[in-house]
Amino acid sequence: MSHFPEFRFRRLRKTPVIRKMVRETELSLSNLVQPIFVIPGAGIRKEISSLPGQAQLSVDKVVEYGKRLRDFGLESVILFGLPEYKDESGSSAWDDNGIIQKTIHALKESVPELSVITDLCFCEYTSHGHCGVLKNGDVDNDATLKNLARQTVSHAKAGADMIAPSGMIDGMVGVIRTALDESGFSEIPIMSYAAKYASGCYGPFREAADCAPQEGDRRSYQMDPANSDEAVREALADLEEGADIIMVKPALFYLDIIRRIKDEFHVPTAAYNVSGEYAMIKAAAANGWIDEEKVMLESLLSIKRAGADIILTYFAEQVAARCTTNGRVAC
Ligand code: PBG
Ligand code: ZN
Repeated sequence: MSHFPEFRFRRLRKTPVIRKMVRETELSLSNLVQPIFVIPGAGIRKEISSLPGQAQLSVDKVVEYGKRLRDFGLESVILFGLPEYKDESGSSAWDDNGIIQKTIHALKESVPELSVITDLCFCEYTSHGHCGVLKNGDVDNDATLKNLARQTVSHAKAGADMIAPSGMIDGMVGVIRTALDESGFSEIPIMSYAAKYASGCYGPFREAADCAPQEGDRRSYQMDPANSDEAVREALADLEEGADIIMVKPALFYLDIIRRIKDEFHVPTAAYNVSGEYAMIKAAAANGWIDEEKVMLESLLSIKRAGADIILTYFAEQVAARCTTNGRVAC
């Protein structure tokens, strides 16, 4: 490479055509997954105040929404359910007539083109709000594994296309893989929340999914934000147990982790652009402090550039509605 003044970086920044020609990273709708919150009832759309633009939807409204997303060119959603009842173990999570199971059936019947990922955890289903069965005030790892196997098979029977366990329970991927294989669902992939941090950025989600712990926090199962090597070991363990896709969560404060995992394993990598990250951008934009569309796209692009192949984001619909031609994102 020659040096200035023979060489000038600005030559390749001069026109839009040249800038696009040398772009290294591009977002596409195929990379984006829209989260959806399902509630019991019919005809209900309840706005979530801390997640502007997102709502809790009854099953019929999820179907309408799914059609709209499909028409915008989105191909994938992840479901979170607010059940009819909660108990100590979260048993409504593996009820074949449960909220998620009903939603999958309805979506498969009316919008079969849409790929349905289900989040596998218990915090929405337990009376105490923790991600598994409690013993002496803490999540009992191995007892929770048994219930995860039940929940998995119930989602698979209902027609889920992909299973995404989010509880950070040791051994969860292996147990889920075995449960799927033994019940005839060996083709269903697992997207593991492998490196999920005990983050302050989940606040709005806990309002949306009604899953805040009644007592204590999740630091005995989710990762310490200070750790990076541990994320690599978590991802390795999940891959050895049979994970097909490794997820890092949150995304924006953990771009270094996404890059490390991508470089280390070269496997399909996902990042969850979480509720607090979304809410911060929405709030600043609502105050007129930042340009919403610009920051939305820049933040998503940064996640992609860090190495994520897949991005779970509350912005998916907004990107699809406003910024694409033939599935390629450009605004
Ligand atoms: C539940 C779960 C959480 C999120 C996804 N699955 C919350 C938590 O761990 O407390 C957070 C998603 C978001 O903030 O957007 N295990
Ligand atoms: Zn949980």
